[in-house]
Amino acid sequence: MKKSVVIGVICAFFLGFMVLPSLYAGLTYQHEFKDKNKSYAHGEYADEILLYAPVEYGEMREAPVLFSHSSHSAFACGDCHHDAEGKPKDETQKMLGCMSDGCHDMAVAETPQDRRDIRYFYKAYHDQCMTGCHRTLAQAGEPTGPTACPDCHPK
Ligand code: HEC
Ligand code: HEC
Repeated sequence: MKKSVVIGVICAFFLGFMVLPSLYAGLTYQHEFKDKNKSYAHGEYADEILLYAPVEYGEMREAPVLFSHSSHSAFACGDCHHDAEGKPKDETQKMLGCMSDGCHDMAVAETPQDRRDIRYFYKAYHDQCMTGCHRTLAQAGEPTGPTACPDCHPK
């Protein structure tokens, strides 16, 4: 075989079996870290994360939501990051994104029941962030975050 053919085959292998699948995996992982040097993989976590719907959800109707850790620094990690029983995690426990496997990983709600299932990412985020926290604080007259659609999903 000619050397160029061998190199071509090797390149095709890498592109087909290594590069493209990892790019795809990158796409199915729905976040974009504003600070690319920081992600959990590096033992640190990003301050600002742009949250997208899962890829399987299909076309998004709204703009992705910007989440900032530093603007929530008045809260403990475990106020948001909890285990499968809903118990707050402490800083020695591994914290992951909300849509991680086994968590709020339902991408598509097929039935009205699904729409009320806390595994449905849409319900999990809205219940936790919008109604559960921001609105409750607003009603209590406390400083709070956005409660209106376009304040989280900018036009
Ligand atoms: C406190 C912030 C917040 C507010 C307020 C909020 N959302 Fe969301 N919403 C999210 C987050 C976080 C997600 C999950 C990540 C994503 O899909 O961008 C989400 C997901 C969605 C999705 C699914 C993804 C898509 O774009 O199709 C829709 C639809 C949606 N929201 C509509 C609304 C509507 C309508 C309102 C107002 C009633 C609203 N949201 C208010 C944070 C918010
Ligand atoms: C106000 C709620 C809130 C608080 C408080 C909070 N986080 Fe987060 N954290 C989030 C959200 C929302 C995300 C993005 C979720 C997603 O990716 O679906 C996130 C993502 C993460 C990730 C995953 C980043 C990655 O690389 O995937 C880690 C790790 C993390 N947080 C650690 C922490 C630690 C440690 C603390 C406490 C010092 C903390 N968080 C405090 C809400 C919070």
